Amino acid sequence: MAGKGKKPIKITETILRDAHQSLIATRMTTEQMVPIIDKMDKVGYHSVECWGGATFDASLRFLKEDPWDRLRKFRDGFKNTKLQMLFRGQNILGYRPYADDVVEYFVQKSIANGIDIIRIFDCLNDLRNLQTAVTAANKEKGHAQVALSYTLGDAYTLDYWKEIAKRIEDMGANSICIKDMAGLLLPYTATELVTALKETVDIPIQLHTHYTSGVASMTYLKAVEAGVDVIDTAMSPFALGTSQPATEVMVETFKGTKYDTGFDQQLLAEIADYFRPIRDEALDSGLLNPKNLGVNIKTLLYQVPGGMLSNLTSQLKDLGAEDKYYEVLEEVPRVRKDLGECPLVTPSSQIVGTQAVMNVIQGERYKMVPQQTKDVLSGKYGATVKPFNPEVQKKCIGNAEIITCRPADLIPDELDTLRGEMAQWSEQDEDVLSYALFPQVATDFFKYREAQKKKVDPNMADNANKAYPV
Ligand code: CO
Repeated sequence: MAGKGKKPIKITETILRDAHQSLIATRMTTEQMVPIIDKMDKVGYHSVECWGGATFDASLRFLKEDPWDRLRKFRDGFKNTKLQMLFRGQNILGYRPYADDVVEYFVQKSIANGIDIIRIFDCLNDLRNLQTAVTAANKEKGHAQVALSYTLGDAYTLDYWKEIAKRIEDMGANSICIKDMAGLLLPYTATELVTALKETVDIPIQLHTHYTSGVASMTYLKAVEAGVDVIDTAMSPFALGTSQPATEVMVETFKGTKYDTGFDQQLLAEIADYFRPIRDEALDSGLLNPKNLGVNIKTLLYQVPGGMLSNLTSQLKDLGAEDKYYEVLEEVPRVRKDLGECPLVTPSSQIVGTQAVMNVIQGERYKMVPQQTKDVLSGKYGATVKPFNPEVQKKCIGNAEIITCRPADLIPDELDTLRGEMAQWSEQDEDVLSYALFPQVATDFFKYREAQKKKVDPNMADNANKAYPV
């Protein structure tokens, strides 16, 4: 244990969630992860982030895996390490606000299946959208970490962050995360921000950033010196670029100082050896684009997260309008301003990005307006830090009613209805939650699961033979 004056920096390892979400579109399979769990469990990580975010959607949609089954396998394997997930507040792991009963049940089942720490954020930093999840995590004896979606803009002063941090502590969170999804937090700003937050709250502060703009490991260094308690890193084969700083590098940086993690570099090297062929394979197949591994300075100019940049590229490609890339990038901050200067993180990043694309392609701003933009402008996602642009609001939603209460107060309980809709597919309690988030994708998965079972079930085969003698 730490001696006098020592303050070992704690590490959350992201390779099983954010790192592969950021670099290879969340395509790492459970089968690729399970063999290395035993070694990872011996490192001494504060936690392993391994679930939530886009992993749930990608498992069902692309990998034909049950995300709940993956979580149970992690829990079986990680005997000594806390498991962490990312949770989008009232939007859970989906793209729209859900009723409280679904949020509560999702939190309950996540913890029952093995999650220890739930990192909860809201894409507008509207704390009312976090309360249900925080209360549910407290009730289930999980660790509720609330994340500030870090962004830049006139409204986002040190006083703003201090005030919101205080309110987060008061609402019952066990820790705070500064969630810098775009890699916008600069080293010296990190000193100021972490110092200010440490003066304001007593609960631990964790820092999450991305390497996209190239400053991330310097930012960690300054944040650690300023007293941050935990940093998020990824094992080197899936580090840097749009992912996190490398675990081994940060461990070596603090070696012999009062922040020494005490991790065994030999053990880390063995873990890196395991993941390196997976990275090489992804490079060979094109799943890992070398472009995502470099420094993208545009992210600082346009304040756009790395994931959003690649989304915009593919949207424009689909429309045959790749030449409009820079016009769209310049439109993004304008749309963001119209929509109350919100942070850009799922789902607000997709909403702002899609609107920016439409504004440019149509040659007239807000000529074409998707329902989600209208929902933001009518308050259905919650309150923004600055008011909406009134002219844009008028053009998009006319005189429609504006919601000012907590949006979920207007959503009636949904679980019973959802259970009714998917009853024929239900094999476990958790299935209704998969269905709630992605009705079509989950149904396709349930059908696939059933077909697989018929393939391997010998009784079924026997019955089939009896029914259809050959
Ligand atoms: Co992230």
